[in-house]
Order: sequence, then C-alpha cells, then structure tokens
Amino acid sequence: MMDVAPFEQLLKQTMGLDAASIGSAVVRRAVQERLAACQLPDAQAYWERLGSSAPELQELIEAVVVPETWFFRDPASFAALARLLCEDGRPPQAQTGLRLLSVPCSTGEEPYSLAMALLEAGFPESALRIDAVDISTRALAWAQRAVYGRNSFRGSDLAFRDRYFVATAGGHSLVDEVRRWVQFRHGNLLDGLMAEAELYDVIFCRNVLIYFDRATQDRAIAVLKRLLKPRGWLFVGPSETALLSDHGFVSAKLPLAFAFRKGPAAGSETKPRAARAPTVPVRTWTPVAPAPFPLAARPRLVPTPAAMPRAAAPAEAPSAIDRARRLADQGHLADAAAHCEAHLRQHGPSAGVFHLLGLVRDASGNEEDAAEQYRKALYLEPDHHEALIHLALLLRKRGDEAGAQRLQRRASRLHQGSGA
Ligand SMILES: C[S@@+](CC[C@H](N)C(=O)[O-])C[C@H]1O[C@@H](n2cnc3c(N)ncnc32)[C@H](O)[C@@H]1O
Repeated sequence: MMDVAPFEQLLKQTMGLDAASIGSAVVRRAVQERLAACQLPDAQAYWERLGSSAPELQELIEAVVVPETWFFRDPASFAALARLLCEDGRPPQAQTGLRLLSVPCSTGEEPYSLAMALLEAGFPESALRIDAVDISTRALAWAQRAVYGRNSFRGSDLAFRDRYFVATAGGHSLVDEVRRWVQFRHGNLLDGLMAEAELYDVIFCRNVLIYFDRATQDRAIAVLKRLLKPRGWLFVGPSETALLSDHGFVSAKLPLAFAFRKGPAAGSETKPRAARAPTVPVRTWTPVAPAPFPLAARPRLVPTPAAMPRAAAPAEAPSAIDRARRLADQGHLADAAAHCEAHLRQHGPSAGVFHLLGLVRDASGNEEDAAEQYRKALYLEPDHHEALIHLALLLRKRGDEAGAQRLQRRASRLHQGSGA
C-alpha cells in the first residue's frame, strides 16, 4: 500500500493541513486521483512531479481543501459586526477607511455576507474595503462567479436572498451592488500574507484553524495578530475560541458572535505554548482575474428593512427559536436554553434546535450536555455538518481523538458527496 505520510507532511508544510483532521484516507484518495489524472505509474513518480511542478502542488491542495461554507454562517457574528464597528459612537454613515479581511473566504459566502450585513446597517460603500483570501483558486473562481446553489442558503431566515440575488437557471446570482464591495485574492494564511500592507479593523478567520495542528494554529494566529489593528476585531469559528484566549485575546462577550480583540498580552509577539514558528517568506498577493461572467442587467435594490438575518426588527413576532438565538447572541445563555427547550416541548425534536442548544451548553461550559445535544441533532439528521464538526471538536477537547476523527471523516465525506 502507498505510503501517504510524505504527502501529508508536504501538505502540512505548504498549507498547514493536519491530515488527522480530515483523515489519511482522504489524502490517500486525493493523491491517487491526481496520480491517475497525471497518468503517472506510481506514488514515487507523482512525488517527483510534485517537487518540480507548482501547478500540480496546487492541484493536490485543491483536492484536499474543505470549502464548506454558507451565507450568514453563525449569524450572530454578522449581527455583532456593525455594533462593534460603531462603538466609537460614530454612526455607520460617518465611518471612513475601514478595512475588513475574510481569510479563508472559500467560495465567497462569508465576505459577501459581510458586505450585505454592512450595507444593511447603513455603511456607505466608500466607508470600507473588504479583502477576501483563500488558498484554493477553484473556490475563488466560484466566488467571483457569485452564482450559488441551495447549499449556500441554510436556515430559515432567507430574506436576504430575495433582496440581493436574482434567480437564474444556474442558481442564485448575487447582484453587482454587493459583489463590487469584495476584492478576492489568492493567498496562503501561513505565508504572512499582506505583511507589508495596511492593517485590518476586522478579520474573519473562521473554520480553518480546526484543520491545523497546534503548532500551525499558533503560527496562523501570529499572522492574524500582525494583521489586526490594535483596536481591531477578530472573529473565529465556534470551536476556535479557546485558542484565542490562549494567545491573550479578549472576548467581546457576545457568546455566539465569537469576536475577540487583542488584550494587553496579545499585542506582544511572545507565543504561549508552541516553539517559535519558522520565518516564512512574505509573498505578495496575486489579485485574481475576474471570472468571465455575463453581467446581466441587475434589478435595482428596493430597500426593505428586514432583509438581513436577525439584524432588523422582524415584522412578525419572532418564533421561539429566533428568540433563543437572539438571547444567546446577547449572552443570556440560560434564557436561550429555556427557549430551546420550550421549542422542543411545543414542536417536537428538531436537529437545528438540538444543535443550537448544544452550542449554548458549550458556551456555558457544560460539555457533557453539549455533546448529548449534538448527538441528538445527529440522530435526527446524520448529515448535520455543523453538529458533526462541533461534536468532533468537543470530543477532541475531551481527549477522545478516535471519536473526533471518526466524526471528522463523516463530515469530510459529506462535503465530498455534496460536490461543493
Ligand atoms: C471550511 S472553509 C471556511 C470558509 C469560511 N471562513 C467559513 O467559515 O464559512 C475552509 C477554507 O480554508 C481554505 N484554506 C485552507 N488552508 C488555507 C491556508 N493555509 N490559507 C488560506 N486558505 C486556506 C480552504 O481552501 C477552504 O476554502
């Protein structure tokens, strides 16, 4: 059987991927597929090809990345954003020179959600610039095309889709008014990208650190720390918050927003646990050429107040689950849990509610109950990707590495099956 270890090592060095996070079988399959695509006889020949061909290394990276993402993923992060940006007392209309970064941006849903959230909150386009970076050129091409299928729209609050997308035969096409806010670039988070450039007021770096081992996480956080302004905000994924506290970041205390600011200790370059990361070359970003995409006539935007999920006042009384989410966003965890339980009593079992309750329990530090809620979500909906990932991370945190890997393999099989 092929020895996949050298390939795993190469992927760790180049993109930071810890093969354990997606499973060696996924890396093995990717190598076999590429080897066949290159019409090479064996792994040794493919290894040599990788050594001499940067485009082939990129192909291998494309074969292992997990581009799973959707619009307004963890909506509380987007709801918190405008509020945090205006904490200096200036209204959105008076803000200027704000710089935001989404890294990794995957197929674009995250940076476009940032644009929609800020547009909705009243920020003028001239007030800010959103950079979006990913290591996958395929994901970036998708992002620039900006036409999305069902998987990109999850949850029940999809008013933003009616407002900012046009339904076409190929999927929902994002209007130009949003697309033009975002500049996409190819880059590697571990290359100290943009080290020479201006710093950022806001960085969204969500759901990538979970694919790195501890030393690489430390290295990535050092890069983010360098890119973030002293009073800037860093948003991470739900399972990545503990890492930031270890690096001296201080939580905004908006539980489901996962927003952090540099604390006094985070400003220094010292790293708490891992050995100093090796110096990596600073690579200048290569702007991605716009994908050929027919710019059909776009409808004019009709301002309707409730377009963004959970940002504007709803026209009708919110459901128990919306209330639960909102309470959780505001840090009222006990009340949020009570609303989830009431919802379950009234409407019966629901994977989404069990998952939310799991997040609330997790944020309250009740790991045992959180795991149980995630399991219930998976019992009802075995393909609930977030529940799989959150439970995997919880198991890993509690020392059950084998269980965590099993779930992560399920999650990555799911992703591959979705063809995203
Ligand atoms: C699961 S998606 C996360 C997307 C988005 N931030 C979100 O939370 O929905 C992970 C993305 O990380 C990208 N990625 C992996 N390693 C990277 C690296 N070293 N530098 C930049 N992007 C990377 C992958 O290409 C993939 O698109």
